[in-house]
This record gives sequence, C-alpha cells and structure tokens, in this order.
Amino acid sequence: EKGGFEHFMLKEIHEQPKAYRDTMLGRIDNETKKVQLPELKMTEEQIKNIRNVQIIACGTAYHAGLVGRTVIEQLVRIPVETDVASEYRYRSPIVSKDTLVIVVSQSGETADTLAALREAQSNGAHVLAITNVVGSSIARDADDVIATLAGPEIAVASTKAYTSQLIAFNLLGLYLAQVRGTQTAEEIAHTLAAMQALPEQVESMLEQAEAIKGYAEQISKHEHLFFIGRGLDYAVAQEGSLKLKEISYIHSEAYAAGELKHGTLALIEDGIPVIALATQENVLEKTVSNIKEVKARGADVLAITYEEHVAPLLKSVDQAFAIPKTLPLLSPALSVVALQLLAYYASLALGHDVDKPRNLAKSVTVE
Ligand code: F6R
Repeated sequence: EKGGFEHFMLKEIHEQPKAYRDTMLGRIDNETKKVQLPELKMTEEQIKNIRNVQIIACGTAYHAGLVGRTVIEQLVRIPVETDVASEYRYRSPIVSKDTLVIVVSQSGETADTLAALREAQSNGAHVLAITNVVGSSIARDADDVIATLAGPEIAVASTKAYTSQLIAFNLLGLYLAQVRGTQTAEEIAHTLAAMQALPEQVESMLEQAEAIKGYAEQISKHEHLFFIGRGLDYAVAQEGSLKLKEISYIHSEAYAAGELKHGTLALIEDGIPVIALATQENVLEKTVSNIKEVKARGADVLAITYEEHVAPLLKSVDQAFAIPKTLPLLSPALSVVALQLLAYYASLALGHDVDKPRNLAKSVTVE
C-alpha cells in the first residue's frame, strides 16, 4: 500500500510529479498555448466583473492561499486577501456579488472552511472551491470547483495536496488573466511551458534527498529554529515551519526576513539554525542583508536558492541547497519540496510517528 516507501508521507512526496501532471492534464491546450477550465460555471462576464478576491482556508491549504494571493494579484491585478477560515467568519468580511471567494481544502470537509464558504455565499459572493475530494461537502456546496488531482492523501501532513493547490492557483490565475486580458498570449505560453517543466524538476530534486537528510539530522538536535524569506519565499517559509512542527515537534517560526530586526532578532544566538529561502530575485539583495544580520549573531544558515546564486551566497551562509530554476511565481512548487523532505527526515531521525503525529487528525470536522 505504501508502494515500497517506509511511510505514506514519503510516498506522497514522491507522487508530486504525477500530481502536478494530473492537475495540469487537459487544462493546458498545447496547440493554442492557453488554459482551459471547462468545468467552470462562472461566465466570462462574471470574470470580467470580479472586483476583489478572498481566499479562505486552514493550515497548509491556507499557506497555499498565501501563494495564491500573489499569483492572482500579479497575473490579474485585482486585490486579493487571504484569510484563515476560523478568523474570516468573525471579522464581518466585506463581500459583494463581484467578490470571488476561493476556498481551498484538501479533504473538502474542514468545518471552519465549510462554514466560511456558507458565510460568503449568504453575503452574495460566488464561491469557487479548490479541493482534492470531488464528492466532499465543500465541493457540493461551492458554486464552482477546480479539482486538484493529487490522488488520495493518507499522511496527516499534507504534501502533494498543497503543491497541487499551487498548480491550481497558477492555472486559475492564468485563466482569469486570459479572459481579462492582463497577460499577453506570449506571457501565458511562457508560464505554461515553465509549469510543464515542474514535474521533471521535482524528480531531479527528489534524487538529491540525501543532502536534505543529512541537514535534517543536524537540525533534529536543536529545539528551536527559524525560517525566513521575502514575498513568496515567506509564504513557503510558513509552510515549511508548519510541516516541521507538525511531525518533528521541533519548535520553529517563520518570519518575513525584513521583520526580524523588529524583535525576533533577540532570539538569534550562537548556533541557532536559520533556513533562508532565497529564490525571489527582485528582493534577493535584501534577503542577503537579512541573512547577514542573523549570521552576525551566530546563526547557522542554510540557504535554499537557485544554483547560480549558490557560490555568491556561500560567502554569507554556512550551507546551500540548490533548486532548479523556474519563474518567480512557480518557485514555491519546487522550494517547498526541500522543506517537506527536511520535516520528514527530522521526524524520522527523532523516531516519531511520521504519518500520524500526536494530537492531529487528517480531517478536522469540528470548529
Ligand atoms: C498540515 C495539514 C493541515 C490541513 C488543514 C486543512 O499538514 O494537513 O494544516 O492543511 O487541516 O485541511 P483541508 O485542506 O482538508 O481543509
């Protein structure tokens, strides 16, 4: 049942290239180089009228929504907010019939997400669900559904569902951009080609899992560590931190790299591991300054970046892990794989029950 893998989580990490391919299958027209989402009931006119987007989810799906916010804002230039479902309902969200609400849920059964969906619908919003279970309550109640085709996810810690959600957000963002004319045909074709390269790129990363395993064994000896990054790297930092806490029980925090000096830097002391995500090239120099701030306080820094930046970064960091080159909006779909492996191997090194971490359930049907 685990297909030769020791745990479901490792199997599911390895299923990601297939999950990416399956989620893209039939949704990219290779002749016209366009996105097609025939399942959508939303009309072109409705799409043209969207004034704002609200993304709502819990946990890892919320972290996918943080990436989704940037993807949609960049591609479509409409304002997007991302909320945790248990908070959204109680903040009197401002919704109109021109608000597109996107709920994200692997299981499609998360109580808070389902309640937020109903709240948004009762306020007149059109609700689109990105879910991995097409027969779920959330899929049934939503006005539109984009299915992630990750296949069943058994491990409590979500991996392939999260990355498939990233693919779904990119497809949706490109589709909205196509209809609203905010990206040229060339730009769309270029991004689609980069997306189609992702599965092989993930495969090449999985072949380097041993390097991550070695680093995971080092950090498993620590009680606290930090993840830092800017922009989409910050969103991935949050997911990496959750994954590590969830299955290794090591305390970690994710910080926007520029926020450290507003308080958290006080916690950086000799030997503390800091994992710096550094893929967003528009802010790379700024991230490097933040890395230097923690290095100066004795932190032990691992950078996750593109090959071309490894040599220069090694002047400021202790170790680096290179990921394959992709477009800025797509980098989370690669960098997170390194962090999933890190959490997995740290949990393994500590002898924890990787697939069934304490206190947690796969599907959270209570509010
Ligand atoms: C973490 C994890 C949880 C879920 C969250 C939402 O690895 O799996 O944080 O992401 O409980 O679940 P779904 O996506 O089923 O709504």
